Amino acid sequence: MSRLRLGVNIDHVATLRNARGESYPDPLRAAEVAIAAGADGITAHLREDRRHIRDADIEALAALCVRLGRPLNFEMAVTGEMEALALRLRPHAACLVPERREEVTTEGGLDVAGGFDRIAPSVRRMAGAGIRVSCFIDACDDQVDAAAAAGAQVVEFTTGPYCDAVRAGDPEAGLYLEQLRRAAQRASAAGLEVHAGHGIDFDTVAPVAAIPEMRELNIGHFLIGESVFIGLPAAIRGMRERMDAARGGAGA
Ligand code: PXP
Repeated sequence: MSRLRLGVNIDHVATLRNARGESYPDPLRAAEVAIAAGADGITAHLREDRRHIRDADIEALAALCVRLGRPLNFEMAVTGEMEALALRLRPHAACLVPERREEVTTEGGLDVAGGFDRIAPSVRRMAGAGIRVSCFIDACDDQVDAAAAAGAQVVEFTTGPYCDAVRAGDPEAGLYLEQLRRAAQRASAAGLEVHAGHGIDFDTVAPVAAIPEMRELNIGHFLIGESVFIGLPAAIRGMRERMDAARGGAGA
């Protein structure tokens, strides 16, 4: 099986920094450490309320990723403000996510089917500017079809329901995994590159990584949390090892 890329989401380094109103820990330093430890790219979400990543962070991350020759995956709500920023910064990829001000974290996939008339033109404008556009969606047929029709190059499936079910010991976990497998096949057959993320930890990564169509996982909260105990490089290396093992061995 092809090697799976690991994108490290560094949002919660900024959460910790902002909790004290300090300038540390610095998400930029986390991005550099993550790349040195084997991350293939950096993911960051500039939320409307700037609760973690701020405008100056995303500007600096975009410059850093160019300097290091690594992709920046810019997570963004489908708003005029975020689209204008993406068009100015030209990140390697833009991942379109739903956003509600009162949510603690992204709660589910973007409703590309329901919001098609608003989302598709934005996808077209960004793709036309050379940005690889990804839609963060639930693992269901109508959303896959809508993302393909909108002109996205990538879909990122939310693994939140699967990971939550595993942690809760819920037998539905197997069903969620099956939905991910089926949706990955459908997306790949439609010419979309398949990514996944949300809620992934050491105990949930292997079955997701083993889905043959999978090309990239984006993981944040667990890695930043685990780094308190074992350090960010060790947390990233531990995730990388599990991903490689799930795909039949390192470098496969
Ligand atoms: N992918 C997307 C689209 C997300 O919104 C998030 C959370 O910001 C992640 C991946 C990473 O999720 P987690 O922080 O739970 O690993």
